[in-house]
Amino acid sequence: MGVLAKPELPPGANPDWTIPQGFEHYSEAEHQTWTTLYERQAEILPERACDEFLHGLDALDLHGQGIPDFRQLNETLSGLTGWRIVAVPGLVPDAVFFDHLANRRFPAGNFIRGAGELDYLELPDIFHDVFGHVPMLTDPVFADYMQAYGKGGRRALSLGSLANLARLYWYTVEFGLLRTPQGLRIYGAGIVSSKTETIFALASDSPNRLGFDLERVMRTLYRIDDFQQVYFVIPSLTYLLDVTTGTDFGPLYAKMSNMPDIPIAAIEPGDKVFTRGTQEYARSGGRLRQGAA
Ligand code: PHE
Ligand code: FE
Repeated sequence: MGVLAKPELPPGANPDWTIPQGFEHYSEAEHQTWTTLYERQAEILPERACDEFLHGLDALDLHGQGIPDFRQLNETLSGLTGWRIVAVPGLVPDAVFFDHLANRRFPAGNFIRGAGELDYLELPDIFHDVFGHVPMLTDPVFADYMQAYGKGGRRALSLGSLANLARLYWYTVEFGLLRTPQGLRIYGAGIVSSKTETIFALASDSPNRLGFDLERVMRTLYRIDDFQQVYFVIPSLTYLLDVTTGTDFGPLYAKMSNMPDIPIAAIEPGDKVFTRGTQEYARSGGRLRQGAA
């Protein structure tokens, strides 16, 4: 989500920032990059990603034969939940992003990362956006949550509370964990599209894993440059949809504006602690300074 960026409408883009995917223009090497990334994730995601994600991956037939054609993908996706993917050049302004979501359109970058930067990404590319986000959009409950979030985004913008709402997106849509009878599972797109964070998010001793609480999450800072220091665990997708659509955020925004932000690695008195992290990874400088990306 373009929380930090103030991009300008690129020449040739539509007023809603969409562009043609340009499927015909991908090179063999670009298709191969998709396939490589796909195969790496396909190998590690069973038992780690939640069933809804894995079913979505199957339903969409994203079988790793190169970059998918949005026209084909949209036939399947729209038949399942009424969502469609639209191509955009990269980050789009917040209001544009929210408008797409509110209309069940997911904006996806049409470019793919270079073969030399499979693991570390500054900007979300087509692999993150499509492989990471779209499988969850085949789930009816999550599909409704994303649309409701788009509508909520318009409201947060008008109330000057975008920072709070953006944290909800970050800690659910991008980096959320789900509690299941088989143990914790991943559903966040930022995790499932990253080989290293897929492992880290579930297996590392370093991060905190805390029970999801709406207000707690919207007060918590986050980092965009390395593995997360805290993950929030939802009890079910239905819970996430119900608690967010069933709460009027207006009074919550007003209340939170008088409260301090919560530091990224803090554990607060009311927290339900799944794992108390050592924070060793972050303390030792993370992957960027160690060049381990
Ligand atoms: N209920 C929220 C509001 O009153 C809207 C929302 C729904 C936000 C779902 C995020 C997710 O603003
Ligand atoms: Fe994303």
